[in-house]
Amino acid sequence: MLSTINEAASIVQEKMTVNPKIGLILGSGLGILADELTESVHIPYESLPGFPTSTVKGHKGQFVIGKLEGIPVIAMQGRYHYYEGYDLKQVTLPVRVMKEIGITTLIVTNAAGGVNLSFKPGDLMIINDHINMLGNNPLFGPNDDTLGDRFPDMSKPYHPALIEAAKQAANDIGLSIQEGVYFATPGPNYETPAEVRMIRTLGGDAVGMSTVPEVIVANHAKLSVLGISCITNAGSGILDQPLSHQEVIEITEQIKDQFVKLIKGIVKKIG
Ligand code: 6GU
Repeated sequence: MLSTINEAASIVQEKMTVNPKIGLILGSGLGILADELTESVHIPYESLPGFPTSTVKGHKGQFVIGKLEGIPVIAMQGRYHYYEGYDLKQVTLPVRVMKEIGITTLIVTNAAGGVNLSFKPGDLMIINDHINMLGNNPLFGPNDDTLGDRFPDMSKPYHPALIEAAKQAANDIGLSIQEGVYFATPGPNYETPAEVRMIRTLGGDAVGMSTVPEVIVANHAKLSVLGISCITNAGSGILDQPLSHQEVIEITEQIKDQFVKLIKGIVKKIG
């Protein structure tokens, strides 16, 4: 695994024209942020060793490296999901590569269902903690001590200073932002109403099919993490209507300007 990470990282480094300290993972429908980068370089995942070809629509599958508000960043336009059939080491390989090229902060974004009854579609939520219900873990197997600890601390999986910066950035643009716990399911089906009630009972505010593997690996790699969910729909059973990926894409389309403004504000504060 180490050689794959290092090989992919050197290919990325050869193409880089800036040295990003901030990595961004852009979730479903949120990849438009990568189009805002200036002086950008694009590196398709399939050109990198160990990177499978991504299968979901609305996910391009490339690193975009450039400047956001004048600050160097590396963005993932598209990510791998567990439900696509990849193992969690494949899902999190891009995080290992971003760490290797020098990032110290990771901003993870996603589209998620609202479980907290006060959330509305179109809300943005700062992730302040998560619950891993994937039934799997990217750190299973022998531990490579050069990558991180065998038993990583997860007492502050999302960095308090980054949460504070995100709140301030939201306030700066007059955005009322939610905060809560992200609950990860393997997917690919949306939950049943009973599952959504269970998730609420267990302390989840939003539910989605991504993010947690990358955040576990980022903590293992001692990166500071910020997570932002775009609440695209109410969880199953909350409203009397079926859920669809179409709805997820439509809501992210509606919220994209606010989302882009928020992330720009955050990057400016921490960069
Ligand atoms: Cl309601 N559930 C899950 N698991 N993922 C989602 C979602 C719901 N809405 C967007 N992504």
